[in-house]
Amino acid sequence: MCGITGYIGDNESASVLSAGLKNLEYRGYDSAGIALIGDDVTVHKQEGTIDGLTIPSNADATHGIGHTRWSTHGEPTDANAHPHTDCSGDVAVVHNGILANYHELKEELNGHIFESETDTEVIPHLIEEAIADGADLRAAVMRALDRLEGSFAIAATHADYEGIVAARQDSPLVIGHGDEGMYLGSDVTAFVEYTRQVSFLEDGDVAHLYDDDIEIFNDGERVTREVQTVDWDASAAGKAGHDHYMHKEIHEQPTALRQAISGRVDDLAGNASLNIDLDDGFLQTIDEIHIAACGTSYHAGLYAKELIEPLVDISVRVDLASEYEVYDGHNTQDTLVVAVTQSGETADTLSAIRRAKASGMTTFAVTNTVGSTITREVDDSLFIKAGPEIGVAATKTFVSQVTALALFATYLGRLRGTISADEGADILEDIRQLPSAVQAILDEEAQIRRLAAQYSDSKAFFFIGRGLAQPVALESALKLKEISYAHAEGFAAGELKHGPLALVTENTPVLAFLNQSAAPEETRNNVKEVESRGAPVIGLATDGADESFCKHTIDIPELGRLEPLVANVALQLFAYHVANEMGRPIDKPRNLAKSVTVG
Ligand code: AGP
Ligand code: GLU
Repeated sequence: MCGITGYIGDNESASVLSAGLKNLEYRGYDSAGIALIGDDVTVHKQEGTIDGLTIPSNADATHGIGHTRWSTHGEPTDANAHPHTDCSGDVAVVHNGILANYHELKEELNGHIFESETDTEVIPHLIEEAIADGADLRAAVMRALDRLEGSFAIAATHADYEGIVAARQDSPLVIGHGDEGMYLGSDVTAFVEYTRQVSFLEDGDVAHLYDDDIEIFNDGERVTREVQTVDWDASAAGKAGHDHYMHKEIHEQPTALRQAISGRVDDLAGNASLNIDLDDGFLQTIDEIHIAACGTSYHAGLYAKELIEPLVDISVRVDLASEYEVYDGHNTQDTLVVAVTQSGETADTLSAIRRAKASGMTTFAVTNTVGSTITREVDDSLFIKAGPEIGVAATKTFVSQVTALALFATYLGRLRGTISADEGADILEDIRQLPSAVQAILDEEAQIRRLAAQYSDSKAFFFIGRGLAQPVALESALKLKEISYAHAEGFAAGELKHGPLALVTENTPVLAFLNQSAAPEETRNNVKEVESRGAPVIGLATDGADESFCKHTIDIPELGRLEPLVANVALQLFAYHVANEMGRPIDKPRNLAKSVTVG
């Protein structure tokens, strides 16, 4: 997520890089910075917007790199902003993504002076060590890359060496081939006003950019990447070629999930490694968890309850944050209160946490936003690392929230001895499979789009599910109603006959979760109930099951407790395409705001 730019050529580097950062603003960020390389390296960086960054013109600079940061390790501060340098100040590095093993690398690099709390800063110091051993910049970057684990993209420079060395591992990087130099960007937007001749780096590529040439290596071999002409205009490029941010963010989910999981799975121990500061003794003795959240985050909380209760053998209460109250006589000493909030700024959730704190309870936030208000108020935070989400409708953050909470459930279960290492390893294996299961759904988008087109003018849409799928039914309905304005409701499948069935007609499609982990047999009975009232049923079923049972079936890969979460991705696409058919302003639905900071 966030952004990298780079430039080497005849134009003034400072202005090309500033324009590049401005173009990358749409990706969301909390700090920005530039390193200019001439006789020496000058770094200009700070927390806040690019507009607040003063970059003196520097005619001596022959090249440079720039960065918009979305903090994952360390608060958004001037010191944590990129670029980061080595002890000598000659190496400058920008980095997107997460280094899973930075802790151990930092320990190894003792004696080096670190100035930030970021994971990134180990990279310039690793490069510094390699250069001290006689490597040139490219060899030094390659040697550093051998040590890095995680998903990332980087760009590195050195005062004494020509060019920019860039590398990609799971995070995109694009090269621009211009008449007046070579450009680097996280996407084409970064330099689209200068050139449309581009080549896309592949995983494992290390590219060395000179002002009129580029050399690319993969696995030690020299490789070439096709130079293509892109016909994007700058505004379409802002969404990386997608028509809407929501669509882009739905498609970013495999990457977002990899980031959420990276470095957090300890196979040997069958446990999640979460670096939680809350006291283990306290987590072992709590007898209740309260979850307070709003909207989509509340649905993630409901999903978490279904995961935590059976795995951890503890009672979990989930409240809408605006309704959260602490009653007199509650055993506040033995309760953990968890706020789930993408933004970390939702007023209702903040005020629930303040009520909990006032009653003396320990508080914990599961959030996407490092440095947000909630992280400053709670006792500890767990970051979901989904990257910035711009569309008002929460998509990738929901999936990442549930994933982070599934890791937390595993951690608690192992800590309290309610699950064995083998059981922990099984859950972690499902978590690890999530990115590819979600990708399998994204690959079926054409079928989902056809169904959306077929039913987009329906009178209402109902979503039904049980157990783990019930929160997903609520979430799928919320997604559809907020972006399409269609009447959509989610129900516990067993509740239909207690009232909502009166609404069911042949003009109300019912989307039914028949996932293996969500009591499909019982839900099949509910499918029969609605079909006999004429409703067309779209079943979300485990790999080919129920194909002849429902009018339509969307196949969901088998994935244990996480299968309904994967099914949710199919219904994000369904909601998106229904709204698109209806011509709605998908990224900014009427009356809604991305972050609801009023109570
Ligand atoms: C989701 O699509 C919504 N736009 C909304 O319900 C959102 O989830 C809610 O406002 C909570 O936001 P938060 O996660 O930032 O606290
Ligand atoms: N993990 C790095 C940091 O927190 C990079 C974050 C990013 O992708 O911007 O600084």
